[in-house]
Amino acid sequence: MTSSTSLSDDRFAFLDLKPDVDFVLDEVFAGLSLEAKSISPKFFYDERGSELFDAITQLPEYYVTRTEMGMFDAHVEEIAAALGENICVIEYGSGSTKKIRRLLEALKPEAYVPVDISGDYLLSNAQTLVQDFPELKIFPVCADITQSFALPAQVEALRPLGFFPGSSIGNFEPSQAVDFLQRVRTTLGSGGYFLVGVDAKKDISILEAAYDDAAGVTAEFNLNTLVHLNEKLGADFDVGNFEHFSHYNPEQGCIQMFLKSLVAQRVNIADKVFSFAEGELLHTENSYKYAKQEFITLAQSAQFDCLQSWQDANEWFSLFLLRAH
Ligand code: TRP
Repeated sequence: MTSSTSLSDDRFAFLDLKPDVDFVLDEVFAGLSLEAKSISPKFFYDERGSELFDAITQLPEYYVTRTEMGMFDAHVEEIAAALGENICVIEYGSGSTKKIRRLLEALKPEAYVPVDISGDYLLSNAQTLVQDFPELKIFPVCADITQSFALPAQVEALRPLGFFPGSSIGNFEPSQAVDFLQRVRTTLGSGGYFLVGVDAKKDISILEAAYDDAAGVTAEFNLNTLVHLNEKLGADFDVGNFEHFSHYNPEQGCIQMFLKSLVAQRVNIADKVFSFAEGELLHTENSYKYAKQEFITLAQSAQFDCLQSWQDANEWFSLFLLRAH
């Protein structure tokens, strides 16, 4: 290892807050014991799941990533001007480095703090960035973004900009999104900025196609949850006996994702047996869509003001620059 990629120096330090990533068998049991069965979306993301999600972001039907990237390109100079100097970018759930590169090039922050639950992936991505951005300080934090965490001491004097792209905030229930924003506010402090990408409400057929593509990548991504559970927990889901099912729920304003049992069947996990009726649904994730003002109101309830917002020409996606008061 060269000095610039060592685990700690003045440009780079890895902070491992040791998030609890243990597969909680009890949590899976609890979800499968409910009247309306459900399973945590965190089971999407094993190695195969991350690859499939990457493929989703490139699908013709999945306008989200492409639209958001176009908006970063179009508005990053304006964002940079609004922020000024001595910025530290904190990325919530950093994953792949695709989106952040453009932002780092344009904003030229002093420091970048990627935060992710997957430590190995986080560390290797951060070590690549430290080579590619020789002026930038990088302090990756391995933490669960749904729990409270503090910023590394090295960035205390900088002005924080939280970054949460991809409409991931829509994967929280609205009340959880408020809780999340309140924790973000605690982490960033009063005056902290937050740049968040949020998918908008739109024609149902466009929404539904984005979560059920013709090539079947989203279906495979959703079904991979069962493969993951088989591998991690020794469950015996017969993946061929389930199919991907998603629809837009207009009352709740969200896409709901399920796995549908194609036959009456029993599944063994450890010493427990779960029965599925033919046609029974296992809920995996929601993706809430927010009209512009709806999201601004939600942010305000977590003590964030909206400084600026942008939408693409179709008004399919919104970008918000918030500030904590
Ligand atoms: N944040 C993404 C979204 O809601 C997550 C996502 C995209 C997703 N496609 C999916 C989650 C398919 C589950 C299934 O748009």
